[in-house]
Amino acid sequence: MSDSRRAIVLAVGGGIAAYKSAFLCSRLVQSGHDVRVVLTKSALKFVGVSTFSALSGQAVATDVFQPEQFPLGAHIELAKVCDLLIVAPATANVMARFASGMADDLISTLYLQVASPVLLAPAMSDSMWQKSAVRRNVACLREDGCHFVGPSSGWLSCRASGEGRMSEPNEILEAAEALFN
Ligand SMILES: Cc1cc2nc3c(=O)[nH]c(=O)nc-3n(C[C@H](O)[C@H](O)[C@H](O)COP(=O)(O)O)c2cc1C
Repeated sequence: MSDSRRAIVLAVGGGIAAYKSAFLCSRLVQSGHDVRVVLTKSALKFVGVSTFSALSGQAVATDVFQPEQFPLGAHIELAKVCDLLIVAPATANVMARFASGMADDLISTLYLQVASPVLLAPAMSDSMWQKSAVRRNVACLREDGCHFVGPSSGWLSCRASGEGRMSEPNEILEAAEALFN
């Protein structure tokens, strides 16, 4: 492994911006990183396992219980090979579960297991992003040491402009590489 090559776990939450995370996965791989992908159950409603397994060249994890691919438990095996956990899109739901320390699915259990830095790329409607519960969870996660990239302002899929748009894949890649440097 060259000095700049890192093991990245890309966790994709169930938001409309999940389609951009396929491009992010490809950009991370093209930048020489070893990428493993986790999809939440909701993410599977937006994007598919085949896309991410082809782009990453690795088996995609969707459940804590996948004994054939991850005999020790997916969260344990992925955390062992994780220099950085990127969550993109980080949904309101994922951030609430991270902030409260829940471990009721793969992404939340993995978050508790990793020793690496965590980079969150939130994406949601402007109304959700402004909600006091979301503001509290973001503040809590910052205090817990999570790094954030975005969200930015612009066109949202709810057909309004506002704050809550996920950062573009290249910006997320740059934020990840800034953490390595
Ligand atoms: C069309 C559609 C778009 C959605 N987009 C978002 C989004 O951008 N951000 C978000 O936080 N939730 C969004 N949701 C709601 C989440 O899918 C829902 O809260 C889900 O429970 C998230 O699960 P996860 O965080 O485990 O992936 C969307 C739902 C639908 C039906």
